Amino acid sequence: MIIIKTDAEVELMRKSALLVSQTLSEVAKMLKPGITTSYLDEFIGGYIRDHGAVPSFLNYHGYPFNSCISVNDVVVHGFPGEEELKDGDIVSIDVGVILNKWHGDHAYTFAIGEIPETAQQLIRVTKESLYKGIEKAVAGNRIGDVAFAIQQHTEKKNGYGVVRELVGHGLGQSMHEDPQVPNYGRKGTGIMLKDRMVLAIEPMINLGRKEVFTEADGWTVRTKDGSPSVHFEHDVCVRKNKADILSNYAPIEEAERKNANLFVSDQVPAGKS
Ligand code: CO
Repeated sequence: MIIIKTDAEVELMRKSALLVSQTLSEVAKMLKPGITTSYLDEFIGGYIRDHGAVPSFLNYHGYPFNSCISVNDVVVHGFPGEEELKDGDIVSIDVGVILNKWHGDHAYTFAIGEIPETAQQLIRVTKESLYKGIEKAVAGNRIGDVAFAIQQHTEKKNGYGVVRELVGHGLGQSMHEDPQVPNYGRKGTGIMLKDRMVLAIEPMINLGRKEVFTEADGWTVRTKDGSPSVHFEHDVCVRKNKADILSNYAPIEEAERKNANLFVSDQVPAGKS
């Protein structure tokens, strides 16, 4: 059953989504080689609680951390730990909150220092594919239109592997509501989108093949071929003419630009070339 939200509920959900955006932008300021992912996870839990919310991932079906931090070939649901981030890593950070009973759940993939051109492109194309999917999230379209747009840009145009086993989802007072939002599919198929449905759209895209496996910890999902994987997620309200993106990458991107530890090879700071 798909739960349509009221305008007032959508505004509450925007607050939840923006708390996640704000949390991720604080994390973006801290990222540097040598920092451990468990340090980031503890910061995330504290920041969320300091803002009157609860980290929704903690204890979700037994998930043991505040956030999912997925490095390189980890696709999603990576466990934070004592491992240090290093120059050349790509790291997806996925954060969820419950604020005033409403969920926010979104993710961003960062490059640490200098990463290969192939990985830079994977990040750029996956983010673009998210926006191409969001463009289709308007009333009267079908879920397959969103899915097709994402698959077209990543798999068809760029030859990447689109993960099949994991999908986006409806979002509300539960983290996972109907409908499922796959990143692959055919135009004109699936349920019809209606005004004020709220969706978490989240392409998970591999540089290599689409196949993944789950580690013995029951959570960590990795690419079978060991290739890097990228994950971006936005919380989106379906509207009649143009989808309303409730989360916001602008503060995250600004923090990323200003963080000299995240500069990639083609963004050498002035005077340092
Ligand atoms: Co999600």
